[in-house]
Amino acid sequence: MSSYLISGGRPLNGQLHVHGSKNAALPIIAASLLYQGVTVIRGCPDILDVRYMIKILRSIGCGVVYQDDMLQIDASEICLENISRECIGKMRSSILLLGAALGRCRHMTLDYPGGCTIGARPVDIHLKALEQMGVHIEEVDGAIHCETEGLSGARIVLPYPSVGATENLMMAGAMAEGITWIQNAAKEPEVSDLAGFLSAMGVSIYGAGTDRIGILGKCSLHHTEYRVMSDRIVAGTYLLAVAGTGGEIELLNVAEQHMHCLLHLCEAMGCEVRMTEKGVRLKSARRLFAVEDIHTQPFPGFPTDMQSQLMAVLATARGESVIYEHIFENRFRTAGELQKMGADIQIKNNRAVIRGVRKLKGCHVSARDLRGGAALVIAGLMAEGDTIVENSIFVERGYQDICKDLTQLGAEIRHSRDAREG
Ligand code: UD1
Repeated sequence: MSSYLISGGRPLNGQLHVHGSKNAALPIIAASLLYQGVTVIRGCPDILDVRYMIKILRSIGCGVVYQDDMLQIDASEICLENISRECIGKMRSSILLLGAALGRCRHMTLDYPGGCTIGARPVDIHLKALEQMGVHIEEVDGAIHCETEGLSGARIVLPYPSVGATENLMMAGAMAEGITWIQNAAKEPEVSDLAGFLSAMGVSIYGAGTDRIGILGKCSLHHTEYRVMSDRIVAGTYLLAVAGTGGEIELLNVAEQHMHCLLHLCEAMGCEVRMTEKGVRLKSARRLFAVEDIHTQPFPGFPTDMQSQLMAVLATARGESVIYEHIFENRFRTAGELQKMGADIQIKNNRAVIRGVRKLKGCHVSARDLRGGAALVIAGLMAEGDTIVENSIFVERGYQDICKDLTQLGAEIRHSRDAREG
């Protein structure tokens, strides 16, 4: 089992460049299937989820070249028969292939997608909306079989602004006859980035970033070169690591408008935050203040993907903090590991009360999911003594090289890699 070995208790200082966004890159890679030719995606992070997605694309006949952060995808010919079921099982984002693949091939059988076990994570919103667009869906032997004689534009009202469903429907809409309207659409910046990519490819798409998105189908598509937005969750993780350990950081390649909520929170905890010409600078307070009533919400609210990292930092803040998790019911599992390190956290249903202790103590903990793993890394950096974070493979799904980045800031962290995990 691969692990991170951390010697905690040092403040982090320095400058870091934030890599491209996982949650923007994955749907954009899926959308490359819409064009029967070559697409180039730049700023593509070298993380496990992107590697799984590349494997899936190769298994359906795409030619893929991945060099530095440039991904070139040739989707001239695709055939879904030999799709890599192993990779689909490893990654929830494989559901994002459905909209584009149905547009291209008119049928697809998909095993229920995997990913972090942070809640029930059903795909009913995706499937019901696709049915409205003329897709016939059957469950056969635990797999989802979808077939259509041709996608047709529809007016779809989502029961919840699901990020993945919005993205799937944008891709399906691009291949449908007529106009598709998505109401109660997700407003996350990654949805807007996908819209930017689709638009660069020739799709007429309006309203991304609002709760109503319109897509005109069957536009003539062409070759595209597109740069993925920076990863606001990776940026937030590093800001919180510095907030928690003390020190000062300048993060480069950051979009302030994607991070208002977190930056205000850092200020409320006592950090100094200011925008610079190149990005954002954060100077930590000696001891942070607790914050009350943080609610995870769809964008522009506080992101569920930052909740575990925030909990780690609040573990030593002065006073009592309260976090409500409204999006994924299992996202408090990291609390148990933080408690092993001396944190005082009480969970009741979707409410966590965190009473700041003076210090965390290094020990042996285990990551249960991607962002929870990042939270344990932060806790290890804040703690007195040595921490081992097992199951680092979760963290590698979303962070390109967290050890290198944190070492650059002065952390003592090393990766002990299990050869069996590749
Ligand atoms: C995306 C992000 C993930 C982030 C999440 C919420 C990617 C690759 N992943 O995940 O990092 O935490 O948005 O910001 O972009 N739901 C249903 N039925 C569905 C779909 C969703 O009930 O068909 C529920 C989910 O269980 C969850 C909520 O809706 O409770 C939000 O899910 P959704 O916005 O779809 O998240 P993802 O797209 O999976």
